Parts: sequence; structure tokens; C-alpha cells
Amino acid sequence: MKKFVLTLMGLFVILSVVLSACASTPTAAPTQPPSGEQPAQPTTPPAQPASKQQVEVFSWWTGGGEAAGLEAMIKVFKARYPDIEFINAAVAGGAGTNARAVLASRLQAGDPPDSWQGHAGQELIGTYVAGNQILPLNDLYEAEGWLKVMPEMLIPLISDNGNIYSVPVNIHRANVLWYNPKILKDNNIAVPTTIDEWFAAMDQLKAAGVTPLALGEQWTKMHLLETVLLGTLGVEGYNGLWTGEMDWGSPEVKVALENFAKLLTYANSDSASLSWQDASQLVVNGDAAFNVMGDWAEGYFRELGKTPQVDYGWAPTPGTVGVFQFLSDSFVLAANAPHPDSAIAWLKVAGSKEGQEAFNPVKGSICARTDCDKSLFGEYLQSAMNDWASNAVVGSLTHGVVANDSWKSEIDTALGLFVQGGDVNGFQSALVAACKSSGPCK
Ligand code: GAL
Repeated sequence: MKKFVLTLMGLFVILSVVLSACASTPTAAPTQPPSGEQPAQPTTPPAQPASKQQVEVFSWWTGGGEAAGLEAMIKVFKARYPDIEFINAAVAGGAGTNARAVLASRLQAGDPPDSWQGHAGQELIGTYVAGNQILPLNDLYEAEGWLKVMPEMLIPLISDNGNIYSVPVNIHRANVLWYNPKILKDNNIAVPTTIDEWFAAMDQLKAAGVTPLALGEQWTKMHLLETVLLGTLGVEGYNGLWTGEMDWGSPEVKVALENFAKLLTYANSDSASLSWQDASQLVVNGDAAFNVMGDWAEGYFRELGKTPQVDYGWAPTPGTVGVFQFLSDSFVLAANAPHPDSAIAWLKVAGSKEGQEAFNPVKGSICARTDCDKSLFGEYLQSAMNDWASNAVVGSLTHGVVANDSWKSEIDTALGLFVQGGDVNGFQSALVAACKSSGPCK
């Protein structure tokens, strides 16, 4: 088993190297320093030889709408910094499941990329900050005036001991129910707003021979689970799960897990072998009625040339009307970055209005910055902006906000066993234990 895991990790590393090599797009030899740019530096890094200006940026945005968003931001970077070679070290796999394993082994081997994608919240603070793997960016925030344009609520989620550790590029919404408007209309079904309405709709669809729910690989099941916990427990109950105020062993959580178990019965049977894109696509192609996925799915639908309100509709996941379950992708500066000056240049673009306005409309997210031009965004994202500004906001589990990596991984193991065996009580006990060993429960 150990040998298998090692071999697998080796494969990931090789894959990442190959992907990096393929994705790198060398530019011409540097000529002039970019006009007016004096990279702010939080530390005193070694000077880079003029001929070797590069930046290696690591993410998991390799396709399905995500790569296109990243490319749009890289374009802004290349226009601003024509002399810095951009090395796109993205590793494929939704939600970073593969990428984060590759990143972990690179960090352990002392071979960090200059900058990488990390989620605001516990993922950032509990892993990279706790492991001294990234540097504070306070000087950069000061120089770029970012404290005035980044949402106030986000700053504590990227800070520790008064230091700010990342540059948020976006806000994504996790609790979105995507649906096929034609299927619902043909079956005379209204968009469900409660979990019971959703079950009733899916019973009807099942009887009509339609696949009610499109589902993918394991992390998409955790994503579904977090929205069902929220939809069943409400804002206070859901938040309490992460602070220790809500008992994981309570009857309320049991109801949520039963709801989740029931939901799985409406899903396609080949979920384990589908990526999130495969699953979301079932809805826009008319092969399934509903899919729960973050709003990166909208970036994908647009890339596929699909039309909002015709090929796909959206609503908050049942039970979560008026609640915005969020996550934020951000970029960090590696401690011991091989090219710290260039990494700062990248972070400047990631935090800029121009960079975020190029990236987000394509990625299917709204800007982290509060001053982006709303008219650049499509109908769905404009509605997300309104909700972000007016809804109750809670954090995502699957995408790093509310639980640290060790807690999340215990939940993931319990979920995997549950999906295999279907034992709700066993699942609940494992979740109680996970909160005790890695979370705030005593
Ligand atoms: C999330 C990430 C999103 C999107 C999604 C699917 O974790 O924050 O930007 O990439 O995974 O891959």
C-alpha cells in the first residue's frame, strides 16, 4: 500500500513537471524594465540575473472554463511585464485534489513554485502560514492600496498575527443549484426552494425516466454535502459546526445526513468516474435535471457556448435562499521563492482591477475587489454580485474556508466510507470523532 502511494505520488510529480514544461510559454529575452514598476518587497530577496526573469505560478486551472480565466489574467501580466517569462505550472484536477498533493511534495522537497493558488480561510492559515511556507504581504497591500478595495470580512481569513498572507482574486459561490429549464418546464416542475420540494421534484423526474441529479467524483460529493448541511441546519447551525457550538452528534445533523443519503439515490450511477465538468455538462446537454456545483460551472457553460436561462438556470441550493456560501481563490508568495521579484509582479496583477476584470467574467466568479465594473459581467454573475452584497455569508468546507486540511481530510475519509457502505449512524459517529480530533469539539 505504502509503495503504491509512493508510486502514485511519483506519478503526480512527473505529471506536474510535464505539464509545467508544456504550459510554459517563453518570451523574448528581456530588454527594458516595465515602466514605472518598482516591485515592493516584503523581504530582501537575492537579485535576479536580468536574463533569467521568470515566474512560476501553480494552480489547478487547466481546462473547463478555468484555464481560460487564468489565461486572461496571464495576458494582462504579459502586457505589463513583457520581460518576465510566465511559467504556468497548473496541475489538472477539480478542487485541486491532485494539485495540492503535488504542491505538498514540492514544498517538502524545498522546491516551491514562486506563487500558488490557495483558498482564503483555514486552508491558507492552517497549512501554509502554520508551516511557514509563505511570506507576509503587508508592504504590498500598503503600496497597492488594497486594504481600501478588498472586502473587510476577507482580511481576517488571510491574516495571522497582524500579517496578511495572500492576494484574493475572486469570490466564488458554492451553493448554486444549476438546472435544465427545459426539463423542468416539460415536467411542469417549479424550481425547488426547500429540500422537501427538491425531493418531490426529483421523485417526479425519476418516474418520468429523467436522471434527477448529476453528480461527479468524491470531492463533488463533499461539495453537495456542505450545501445540504447548510440547507438543513440553517446559517447558525452550519456555522456552529465549525466553531464547536453545533453538536455533530445532534438529531439535526442526523436529519442533514439522511437528506444527503437520500439525495445520493437520485444521482447517476457512474458518479465516481465523472469530473465536475462531466457532471455539470449532463445538465446543459439535457441529460440530467439538477447539479450542485460552484459557479465556476458557469464559466464552463459559457465556454461551451451555452445560453443562460435557456440551456441552464440557477438558484440557491434548496434551503439556502438568502445565504451565500462562499470561497475565495487567492495567490501567495512562497518563502524561498526562486524569483521573488517576479512573484511580486504576478501578485500585483492578481490584485489589480485590470487583472480581476479580465479574469473573473471568464472564470465564472465575481471580483474580490469591490470596485470592478459590473457591466463586464453576464447575467448570472451580476445576480451573484447582488447576492454577495445582500445575503448572509458563510464559508465553504470543500474549498478551504471553514476547516483546516486535517479536519477536512478526516471528513473526506468518513464520506468515502459512507458512499461505499451507506451507514448514516457510522458516518455521523465518524464526523463527531473528526471534530474532536481535528476541530474545535472537546
Ligand atoms: C475550487 C476553486 C475554484 C475552482 C474549483 C473547481 O476549489 O476554488 O476556483 O477551480 O475548485 O476546480
